[in-house]
Amino acid sequence: MQTLTIQKPDDFHLHLRDGAAMNSIVNYSAAQFSRAIVMPNLTPPIISVDMAMSYRKRILDSVDKNFNFEPLMTLYLTDDTSLSEIVNVSRNERVKAIKYYPAGATTNSENGVTDIKKVYSVFEAMTKYDIPLLIHGEVNDKDVDIYDREKVFIEKFLIPLANDFSDLRIVLEHISTRTAVDFILSASNKLAATITPQHLLLNRNDLYKDINNKDSFQPHNYCAPVVKDEKDRLAVLSAAISGNPKFFLGTDSAPHALSKKESNACLCPGVFSAYNALELYVEIFDKEDQLDKFEAFASFFGADFYGLERNSDKITLIKNAVDIPNALPYDNDKIVPMQAGKTCAWQLKR
Ligand code: NCD
Ligand code: ZN
Repeated sequence: MQTLTIQKPDDFHLHLRDGAAMNSIVNYSAAQFSRAIVMPNLTPPIISVDMAMSYRKRILDSVDKNFNFEPLMTLYLTDDTSLSEIVNVSRNERVKAIKYYPAGATTNSENGVTDIKKVYSVFEAMTKYDIPLLIHGEVNDKDVDIYDREKVFIEKFLIPLANDFSDLRIVLEHISTRTAVDFILSASNKLAATITPQHLLLNRNDLYKDINNKDSFQPHNYCAPVVKDEKDRLAVLSAAISGNPKFFLGTDSAPHALSKKESNACLCPGVFSAYNALELYVEIFDKEDQLDKFEAFASFFGADFYGLERNSDKITLIKNAVDIPNALPYDNDKIVPMQAGKTCAWQLKR
């Protein structure tokens, strides 16, 4: 049977939620990844180092003690983030980055930044202390076509930002378009991007295709940024398998309860991939005949960009098809994993 042994990977973009919801899902990530950059978009958002430290403790308390999992914390940037908080981040080993959400662009982004110019002094301080800025790169302008929101953000805000702060480390998160790939390729080495399994595997047809013999909208494939057309998917895929260190793994696994995802009242963007994200990524690299590129994408490039030591322990994946469940327990509800009801050609050796 074919196997793949690699250094244990890290997930450079993960939503763990909190409380009972977190308890239901955190160990899926801890089984696959050594470390994860944990997103701060809780309600209320994680806006201070103190909040990040108590959230970190809650995460560690809910991780199975058999796993040696390190949550890498982030703060949520608001119009009111103070320069003294940036100094606090610079002095704290556990908080690794600051996340920029344009207000209203996605789940729990209401407290995000309303005007990028308002936080330019924060970017100056982040540059001084070399703190990475993680960007949800979509405009929040509902008059802009939903498929163009990443492209417009890059053109209108990110290109000027990267020019104004040429020494600021920036991660453009969950890239979904050829425009984003081209921009990252043309930008300096201070810029990198994370890539999710859904933007590698799905295109916008998958928002409408049937999953269980029902030809209807597929809310479990809906996320922000929304998956784009096949040309964009292929561009993101070619970036992932290119071996270019500017592109690395970040699942953006974003759990929402089944009852919410399937209610008409809430579109709740977010694909839950943590259940078997690593297996899905490996399956994609294998299909493309690029398994030899996988370890660097999953285990080296992100750590290098963040200035972290590479992990030393190893994991093994086996080429052996496994069924992906239709639903899993989630708090007092259920959750539907990415590719529910299908099979994945690879599985993690446990
Ligand atoms: C994320 C969530 O649910 O928190 N949703 C998503 O579609 N990716 C937020 C985000 O990262 O945009
Ligand atoms: Zn996210």
